[in-house]
Amino acid sequence: MPGIDERYSQLHPKSAVLSERAEDLFPDGVTHDGRKAGPFRVYMDHGLGPRKWDVDGNEYIDYRTGHGSMILGQANPAIVKAVSEQMTKGTHLSASTEMEVRWGTLVTELVPSAEKLRFVNSGTEALMMAFRMVRTFTGKSKILKFDKAFHGWADGPFVAAAGDNPNNGIPQQVRETMVVMPYDIAQVEQALADDDDIAGVVFQGNQVIRPSFIEQLREVTSQHDVPLIFDEVVSGFRWSRGGCQGLYNVVPDLSGMAKILAGGLPGGCVAGRAEIVDTIAPGRISHPGTFNANPLSAAAGATALEIVKNEPIGETADARANRLKDGLNGLLSKMEIPGCAYGVSSIVHMRLGTDHECDRVYCDQGEQAMMVGYGDASIALLGRALTNEGVWGGPTSFILSATHAEDDIDQTLERYEAALQQVRAEGAI
Ligand SMILES: Cc1ncc(COP(=O)(O)O)c(C=O)c1O
Repeated sequence: MPGIDERYSQLHPKSAVLSERAEDLFPDGVTHDGRKAGPFRVYMDHGLGPRKWDVDGNEYIDYRTGHGSMILGQANPAIVKAVSEQMTKGTHLSASTEMEVRWGTLVTELVPSAEKLRFVNSGTEALMMAFRMVRTFTGKSKILKFDKAFHGWADGPFVAAAGDNPNNGIPQQVRETMVVMPYDIAQVEQALADDDDIAGVVFQGNQVIRPSFIEQLREVTSQHDVPLIFDEVVSGFRWSRGGCQGLYNVVPDLSGMAKILAGGLPGGCVAGRAEIVDTIAPGRISHPGTFNANPLSAAAGATALEIVKNEPIGETADARANRLKDGLNGLLSKMEIPGCAYGVSSIVHMRLGTDHECDRVYCDQGEQAMMVGYGDASIALLGRALTNEGVWGGPTSFILSATHAEDDIDQTLERYEAALQQVRAEGAI
């Protein structure tokens, strides 16, 4: 049997050629930093349900699921039909459409905080607009965010995100508008008491943290009359039909959404209290945007949200995630590998190479555990072994869809075990 990297090269000759060509076109050869991979990247061709196929014909069980946007799997028939029909009717009518009203109505029906909304084109745009709205509403300038939280790549929201650095072109003046906090409610309360220029607090809805923290965050922001923004880009329509706020019954003032919202096409929205969303008004915030609520995204989004509303989509994805989580934890015990699989709803995270107490949902080790354990090179090798075995995603994070069947999960576990054995045989774990 060839080694992991030799097999990776043997299985993916067309990808190797494309990867080399892309090096001259794109920084790091990619169009999204999260797709960097060595020694070269695998190029995908098509997908169906929970499976994908690369340009060399290899088949994968998919756990990246459109960076979390494809909870209905690839090529969902209802979405394909809706988008195809819209395609023939025109892709941009440069006017308001019936479809955007249908789409917006579904958002207000599903999301507890959503009295009114505006559509944008991505999660990044949603958070940019949310910040601007709370600043306009309160007349204040700063935003309190949590350390390492990701709210898109725009200047303000990206400050203190993983990967932020002093050389990335974000002006110091913008940095000074961001107050960065650890997940410590006493420190948040102190910051709100000390600084009367905080326009809003933003919380990443898919942060794996005990609900009591989220409840306390709502309490202290209400006490200080500071709007609370939930970034529901990942958690929206996944943690529950109403997102993180629906699962924990904590209602923010504004929410930024994207991904599942637009049914696998580009799209986002800011939704919330009418008086805050209505800061988009003459003499206040102006909001154009060529592709806002474009007919294709509106058709895909409205169709997706109708399915999420009427069928047990989140429930099914959660059940499959629990099966995967239980199986991975069993595998680690069986192979005597320190670590755990944990996570909320239908996203499973893993810590590998570190022994600790864990309740398998809100891993008590917190961020610290990320710092120890196997090194990056071992994890990357495990990733390539998994790719060779036909699992796309992981090796330490899995985003599930409602199309993953129990058989897909069981097959994934077999493949994960094989990958771990190969990495162990090469002495990397
Ligand atoms: C929590 C969160 N917020 C915002 C964003 C940005 O969304 P987009 O990539 O659509 O700009 C992402 C993207 O992954 C995200 O995970």
